[in-house]
Amino acid sequence: MTAGPLVLGIETSCDETGVGIVRGATLLADAVASSVEEHARFGGVVPEVASRAHLEAMVPTIERACREAGVRLDDLDAIAVTAGPGLAGALLVGVAAAKSLAVALGKPLYGVNHLAAHVAVDIVEHGPLVEPTMAMLVSGGHSSLLLVPDVTNDVRSLGSTIDDAAGEAFDKAAKLLGLGYPGGPAIEELAKTGDPNAVPLPRPLVGSPESHFSFAGLKSAVQRAVAAGEHRPEDIAASFQQAVVDCLVDRTAIALGNSDAATLVVAGGVAANSAIRRALAELAAREGRRFSVPPPWLCTDNAAMIAWAGAERLADGLVDSLDAPARARWPLDPAAEKVRGAGVKA
Ligand code: KG4
Ligand code: ZN
Repeated sequence: MTAGPLVLGIETSCDETGVGIVRGATLLADAVASSVEEHARFGGVVPEVASRAHLEAMVPTIERACREAGVRLDDLDAIAVTAGPGLAGALLVGVAAAKSLAVALGKPLYGVNHLAAHVAVDIVEHGPLVEPTMAMLVSGGHSSLLLVPDVTNDVRSLGSTIDDAAGEAFDKAAKLLGLGYPGGPAIEELAKTGDPNAVPLPRPLVGSPESHFSFAGLKSAVQRAVAAGEHRPEDIAASFQQAVVDCLVDRTAIALGNSDAATLVVAGGVAANSAIRRALAELAAREGRRFSVPPPWLCTDNAAMIAWAGAERLADGLVDSLDAPARARWPLDPAAEKVRGAGVKA
């Protein structure tokens, strides 16, 4: 058996109840219950529906993870949980469950930042981040370029989106094209048979000197292209994906140009996209930087990354207070200025 502490991680930041169990770097179980179908008729995630679904799924999912891993709750060395950012009510269910387990078992609790866990999960596959590292975090709720001196304690924001997140753009474009949720995988699949040059679409902020992102204008252009009815859906999907690739590459190139980061890490659900992975790998090679991206199944939300983040902190001799709050907002770089754009959300 592999050595290392046995850590159970709980992830409930959005619409999936995830419970992962790791021993050291080895994943023993990854149990997921999704409430995605309960949200489908509303056309998006309904926070109250998600919270209730987490509550119903929590105990059965913990039990399933233990069965999969062949361990008993008594065997655990620590409990880790996503403490934020995410939907407040959904986070609360996971945090309450984790605290209950920690108290009942007399084991340490770790309240993990979901965004940091997305970046840190790369360490499990590819070893410690070579510092200084630049990370591009692209998920359903966040798009940022980060300088990462220390993934758990010191992360600096170089730029972020002034309107929609990259994953949000995929989800909205998919909705306009009549595809299901989440939109990213559906667009990627449809784009395979499309022409990425067929539909002229904007590349917001490309060429601007700062490293911010913007996707709202791109979404509106997709909306117009769909309404015009002049293009095949697969051509719109491929052209949209290419526009996102071009934006991400340009913004990252600008940031790399201003930085001596040795490594570029790409993380978050959108990093599962093979066109995006390929284009950023090529950029890193051109710029002479090491490139790293977790395997696609570890890019999208999972509880294993939360368990691993807890295991890291356990190894560092840390422990969180049982008062650790659920934090709907929990920026990695609290000092970063909020970027203001035309479409910025309050
Ligand atoms: O990190 P994640 O699983 O959840 C959040 O923390 O938000 O990211 C989910 C986002 C969704 O917007 C989804 O459409 C997008 O990641 N995504 C993709 C792909 N797989 C997931 N976007 C593009 N291509 C994909 N293959
Ligand atoms: Zn995520």
